[in-house]
Amino acid sequence: MSKVLTVVGARPQFIKASPVSKALRRRGCEEYLVHTGQHYDEAMSERFFRELGLDEPQVNLQVGSSSHGAQTGAMMAGLEPIVSQQRPDWLLVYGDTNSTLAGALVAAKLHVPVAHVEAGLRSFNRAMPEEINRLVTDHLSTLLFAPTTTAVANLAAEGIQGDKVRLVGDVMFDAALSAPLGGAAALLDQLGVTRKGFCLATVHRAENTDVPGRLEAIMGGLSAVAGQMPVVLPCHPRTRPLIGQVPGVSVIDPLGYVETACLLESALVVATDSGGLQKEAYFHGTPCVTLRDETEWVELVELGWNVLSPPVSAAAVGTAVLAAVGRVGREGAPYGNGEAAVRIAEALA
Ligand code: UD1
Repeated sequence: MSKVLTVVGARPQFIKASPVSKALRRRGCEEYLVHTGQHYDEAMSERFFRELGLDEPQVNLQVGSSSHGAQTGAMMAGLEPIVSQQRPDWLLVYGDTNSTLAGALVAAKLHVPVAHVEAGLRSFNRAMPEEINRLVTDHLSTLLFAPTTTAVANLAAEGIQGDKVRLVGDVMFDAALSAPLGGAAALLDQLGVTRKGFCLATVHRAENTDVPGRLEAIMGGLSAVAGQMPVVLPCHPRTRPLIGQVPGVSVIDPLGYVETACLLESALVVATDSGGLQKEAYFHGTPCVTLRDETEWVELVELGWNVLSPPVSAAAVGTAVLAAVGRVGREGAPYGNGEAAVRIAEALA
């Protein structure tokens, strides 16, 4: 059976790795888990490992936060001796963070085949660090696990096709199917909101947090929504120091996976710039407004579950969020049948 060296580092990667790690174990594969330390606060990291039943990583590189070059370089320097020593059959990476890029680069230079989960996503906006990470990782990968037919087509357009590209579905859907929602009522009480009576919002993308006009438009828009219904904003540590108090909006500490799932299922509407939350809102049947200029998850816009609202003004954001209330999209199954992780494990085994 194969030996898989998995590299994770950021919150969404812990979620994606959870079903795949379990499927690898069931297939009898050996997994060596490396955490780069890109996310390190208890609420951003350990809590996810605990809630998702992920094994403790064998190594935590503890790279922490810094500029892109310094952070990615530190990850590469830390990973290289581990990959050389472990000589896995596969190096497995997820998504589009700097941890993904560092893992792919190190493995490719050591001639270890790279397997990429969530391959083929494109925003076609190279100003996003994530787009650079995706492009490079996909072009270095030996096995590309695409979540959607759009992703397969994006890869084909770049000349990546054939047996190396596998349409497996979305591992976040696999994870969402087993999210325990039993604690929702108590959480809503604690937050002072009612089921289907509030807006759940998150903001963390550099393109929003690092551009004052965009961040002001989002916060102004959420304040306007707060005039109509409570707005709960679990806040990424990158965003918190930049926003202070937002009138009418309940800004709270980051939540874990289970609490987030409960709020996504209970919210009347979701407003977010996160890729994962766009899909998780849909998995839980809640309409979503994406606070970006484009999205990689175009299927949800096509099906009507998601609407893009580029944060150009508070009025635009507020209007888009209120207009999404009650919207129900068309039926579809764009993210597979909940067996993405099993297919990935099979291919790697
Ligand atoms: C990263 C990913 C992004 C992903 C997101 C998920 C890159 C380029 N970006 O963005 O694609 O959507 O993770 O959450 O890889 N910080 C803390 N504690 C932590 C982690 C971060 O305080 O545990 C703060 C630091 O001030 C840090 C900032 O957040 O500088 C940004 O963290 P970083 O990991 O660089 O990027 P994210 O915004 O989390």
